[in-house]
Amino acid sequence: MPLHHHHHHQYHHLLLLHLVAATVFAAAAHQQFREAPQFYNSPDCPPNIANNNNGDDHYSTSSTVCSDHVVHVAMTLDATYLRGSMAAILSILQHSACPENIDFHFITSDASDGASLRRTLAASFPYLRFSLYPFRSSSVLGLISTSIRSALDCPLNYARNYLPHLLPLCLRRVVYLDSDLLLVDDIAKLSATPLGPSSVLAAPEYCNANFTSYFTPTFWSNPALSLTFADRRPCYFNTGVMVIDLHRWRAGRYTSKIEEWMELQKRMRIYELGSLPPFLLVFAGNIAPVDHRWNQHGLGGDNFRGLCRDLHPGPVSLLHWSGKGKPWARLDANRPCPLDALWAPYDLLRPPFPLDS
Ligand SMILES: *[C@@H]1O[C@H](CO)[C@@H](O)[C@H](O)[C@H]1NC(C)=O
Repeated sequence: MPLHHHHHHQYHHLLLLHLVAATVFAAAAHQQFREAPQFYNSPDCPPNIANNNNGDDHYSTSSTVCSDHVVHVAMTLDATYLRGSMAAILSILQHSACPENIDFHFITSDASDGASLRRTLAASFPYLRFSLYPFRSSSVLGLISTSIRSALDCPLNYARNYLPHLLPLCLRRVVYLDSDLLLVDDIAKLSATPLGPSSVLAAPEYCNANFTSYFTPTFWSNPALSLTFADRRPCYFNTGVMVIDLHRWRAGRYTSKIEEWMELQKRMRIYELGSLPPFLLVFAGNIAPVDHRWNQHGLGGDNFRGLCRDLHPGPVSLLHWSGKGKPWARLDANRPCPLDALWAPYDLLRPPFPLDS
């Protein structure tokens, strides 16, 4: 493809992206959120030397505490999923024995209004320790091969690939979480998941899922590609809940490895979905296990028919509305699934005032 054509194409993506971002942002500006209660450490929490870092200027991370007593949580933050993120944050604080020892790291698109997101967060969580990190969404657009729609859906979906290069170098361990979930247990337990001698990440594994189906026949019929799984037993895992060792990730240059598979996907179709399969290609079979209670996923429902899903058997520490349906949208539409009632108490959105009367 001639270079100028490529640029033109990319410019087109960017322009559309900005238009969509501006529209979504205008919609989010109408959202008003309540202030969450303040949460305090219980007496036996390890002391936390940090002051509240919430007054930092925009993207500063200088007061991040790289102490073992701090649980580090990374999430993306954008106007579209803000309501979900706010509920997730509230649930994390509420179920934590040491809520003052949690540092939040929010990845935002550089196309969004970081200052406004910061103000909104700080208004609802005046005591939250957090930093914002702008992610150059244009950098990933060139690697996304799929339809323009899914690229526009969210370049931030790909931000998790870049966490080790966005977060401060002194951070060793981070819990990455999607924005459509709730914790109902102490995140410190999840963060303490053993990674063993060499695993880079930990996540609940699903070895009964049909792993073959995540990749195309083109992939499986080409030994040069499929042999990547030759020396491991790969299982599906969901990338919405992960404990990541950032030092090991950086040392192993895993961001580049994921990007190499994305480059290949641009030339030949080796998988169907967007951001998940490259993670499976690089990590599946080599991750540390996490109990399934930490990702009760699929509550967004059936992607084809919009059916409600029930919990999987067993205990629950984290509820994940992965899939197409989101609890806030179904509650607003007065068509909630039964489990959406569990999400509602964490909703910080103020009911809208009627504009005309
Ligand atoms: C798994 O998926 C592949 C491809 O989609 C299919 O051919 C195969 O029959 C499936 N295997 C099982 C056990 O369902």
